[in-house]
Amino acid sequence: MRRVKSAGPALVRQMATTSAAAIPPYRGGEALWGTRASEPPGPAALPKQPASTRPPRPPPHLFRPFTVRGLTLKNRIVVSPMCMYSSTDGMLSDWHLVHLGSFAKGGAGLVVFEASAVVPEGRITQYDAGIWKDEQIGPMSRIVDFIHQHKSAACLQIAHAGRKAREVRRTLKAAGRPWALRRDDMRQPKEMTKQEIQDTIRAFVDATVRADKAGFDAVEVHGAHGYLISSFNSPLSNHRTDDYGGSFEGRTKLCREIVKEVRNAWPREKPLFVRLSCTDWVEGGWDLPQTVRLCRDLKELCADVIDCSSGGQSPSQKIAVGPSYQVPLADAVRREVTIPTCAVGEISQAAQAEEILVNQRADLVAIGRQFLRDPFWPLHAARDLGADLHWAVQYVAPFYLFLFIYLVSLSFVTFY
Ligand SMILES: Cc1cc2nc3c(=O)[nH]c(=O)nc-3n(C[C@H](O)[C@H](O)[C@H](O)COP(=O)(O)O)c2cc1C
Repeated sequence: MRRVKSAGPALVRQMATTSAAAIPPYRGGEALWGTRASEPPGPAALPKQPASTRPPRPPPHLFRPFTVRGLTLKNRIVVSPMCMYSSTDGMLSDWHLVHLGSFAKGGAGLVVFEASAVVPEGRITQYDAGIWKDEQIGPMSRIVDFIHQHKSAACLQIAHAGRKAREVRRTLKAAGRPWALRRDDMRQPKEMTKQEIQDTIRAFVDATVRADKAGFDAVEVHGAHGYLISSFNSPLSNHRTDDYGGSFEGRTKLCREIVKEVRNAWPREKPLFVRLSCTDWVEGGWDLPQTVRLCRDLKELCADVIDCSSGGQSPSQKIAVGPSYQVPLADAVRREVTIPTCAVGEISQAAQAEEILVNQRADLVAIGRQFLRDPFWPLHAARDLGADLHWAVQYVAPFYLFLFIYLVSLSFVTFY
């Protein structure tokens, strides 16, 4: 099948108004990792039948379920993690209930909670969310329960900001690079000792155990955007001379160790996501071939989904930002590693998201800022693509039920 080249409004209109046969067929059948085989065949694979007996059209790809381990998402729409800097002592608040809850109410399949620090000194700011102590479990669990009530799933992104931590007493990093500091008033971070590395891995494990207690369906290790793990991976920031630096194996050792230990601490039936900066967008920095190589290792360590982001490592990065600009990264990792991927970055149109999935460039589509503009994005996308997506029962049931009863009783009075 040829790839759909553009995903503009014309495709939206076309998909909304033309017959099922006009929708690009599902290119599947090949069971890459277990979930494909269970998907309904695409329209092209269906035998021609009279309209009256024709089975219902399969839903658009964006609204097909996705199964990974014991978790089935009701659709492929993921809310990308977004820091709100609205926590006190790392605790989530009513703000987070309304903010994250609205995405579940709006129909997202998976809501990823913002980067939550595994240790207090791993926060970007003192207002970051945290998961370093048991008291933080309760407020998270309240929001997870709300999300579950709306048939969405919840994922916690666990993070350490590394050298990008600021406004906190102690910061850590892979090695010193003053130019990487974003503000003049930021403290010069210090190189981590081996003991501090071990303590940090332990903190990721403890955070994972707490995430399970809070009822999360998935965890995501934050290995992107120049934060701790990403700063170890990149040759731009990792100048260590011990076994956590130097070669590819050395630089990625921390990432592999964290993923391995988190996987061991996380229930077998629950999936593990890893978000990576797939490239620094800087010559001589971390790049896609290294990402592919690392993802092969992560797959061996039983990571389940790679969330493909980029950048955040260096002020010299040159990024051609535009619609779907990071999708080629998710596409390459998916094809070369044979692992499910999540695409993210400037995805805002239903047809654009559908194109990514139809052409198997990613398995999931994560959306950030568009969800801030429109928490009901999935409902709007369903309307654009002609799919069924249930509204929250509170919005539909009472009014229409009473209207129906009223009209029925009125017709009885009129005719009899
Ligand atoms: C307000 C805001 C906060 C963010 N916080 C996080 C975060 O906590 N963790 C993370 O991995 N990415 C974070 N990001 C990046 C987003 O998850 C996403 O990758 C990025 O915004 C690109 O997607 P978009 O174009 O759909 O917004 C944040 C982005 C925004 C706009």
